[in-house]
Amino acid sequence: MIIFLIGFMGSGKTTAGRMLADKLQYEFADLDMLIEEHEGLAITQIFALRGEDYFRRVEAEMLKSLFGHEKLVVACGGGTACFHGNMQKMKSAGITVYLKLSPLLLAERLSSEHSERPLVSGMRGNELKNNIRKLLAGREGWYRQADIIYNADAFDIQELLSLVRSVTNHEG
Ligand code: S3P
Repeated sequence: MIIFLIGFMGSGKTTAGRMLADKLQYEFADLDMLIEEHEGLAITQIFALRGEDYFRRVEAEMLKSLFGHEKLVVACGGGTACFHGNMQKMKSAGITVYLKLSPLLLAERLSSEHSERPLVSGMRGNELKNNIRKLLAGREGWYRQADIIYNADAFDIQELLSLVRSVTNHEG
């Protein structure tokens, strides 16, 4: 069983993923970190030197390399679900969980820690908020296909754990 955490930048996929893996006694993988290790470059450098299309191809390849693993929680990047048919592939390979946060909370989180995120780097205030809304509008359609949609504005690991357990128990 693989559990894929998806959702916008700043939604807490890595933190939630680590907690979930710990509770379930699963392995944990962070897709962005796997990409950085594979390329020997930071995400910002990959975007700057090779471009987004290249990043998306590597992202899809690294994601595919995880399919078939047992007992794994994967924290995806914010765009993973939206390119190269990844959403459908993740749904076939395991359980997808969308960590849904309000644009306002995302803006708050991202304005304090956005420096490593090429798609919002250098943005503040209204520019950041507008860009989040624009990107979200294009992405929600993908995110909403998740098996579990978890409202993470008030994140509670026990709540998320119960939701995941109810779905995984069903699937055996
Ligand atoms: C991206 C999100 C980032 C990273 C890359 C692109 C996106 O991951 O994969 O900067 O398209 O939303 P996080 O969601 O972990 O910040």
